[in-house]
Amino acid sequence: MTRSRGTPVEAGPSWWQAAAGLGQTTGLARPAGRGRRRGELREPSVQADKRIIELLNKVLTFELTAVNQYFLNGRMCGNWGYERLAERHRAISLEEMRDVEELIDRILFLEGLPNLQRLDHVAVGETPVEQMRLALELERAAVRNLHDGIALCLEVGDQGTREFLAGMLPEEEQHCDYWETQLSAVDAVGEANYLAQQLHA
Ligand SMILES: [Fe+2]
Ligand SMILES: [Fe+2]
Repeated sequence: MTRSRGTPVEAGPSWWQAAAGLGQTTGLARPAGRGRRRGELREPSVQADKRIIELLNKVLTFELTAVNQYFLNGRMCGNWGYERLAERHRAISLEEMRDVEELIDRILFLEGLPNLQRLDHVAVGETPVEQMRLALELERAAVRNLHDGIALCLEVGDQGTREFLAGMLPEEEQHCDYWETQLSAVDAVGEANYLAQQLHA
């Protein structure tokens, strides 16, 4: 598909566009070796199999949903007074936003049109611990989706996109591990004790 000059890319919600400029980092180390390069757009464009564009847009929808879910979690935790947990959700939200940015770049590089109109169901937890359980489910789904996407890339023979998706895996696995560890801590010390440690960032 060739996009005509001036075809608008739909704008996303204003809050994450604004947040994207903050350049804040999370305390979690960003895994090395992500298979994406910032300079991709300057290289000659290549056209991808239609299924690959659909796949990348599906992952984009997933990541946009994750951005929203974490951002909402962060605001809710802040409202409850759990500043430390609020900061963690917000930091991960920004990491997911960088995934969104890189997916958009990859789709444009492949001469596709990024779809920012769609959003999956945002799972809203009514307590901090429920939010963590839902975040773990979200991250496990992210890992599954990437594995499925990598399998499709192998089937289609798109090694570049396979490498790109494989580069996303370590961070999503790290997010899974983070929430598994937090939920284990809740089990070990009890919910009240755990939450008492979340009052201050
Ligand atoms: Fe992500
Ligand atoms: Fe994630």
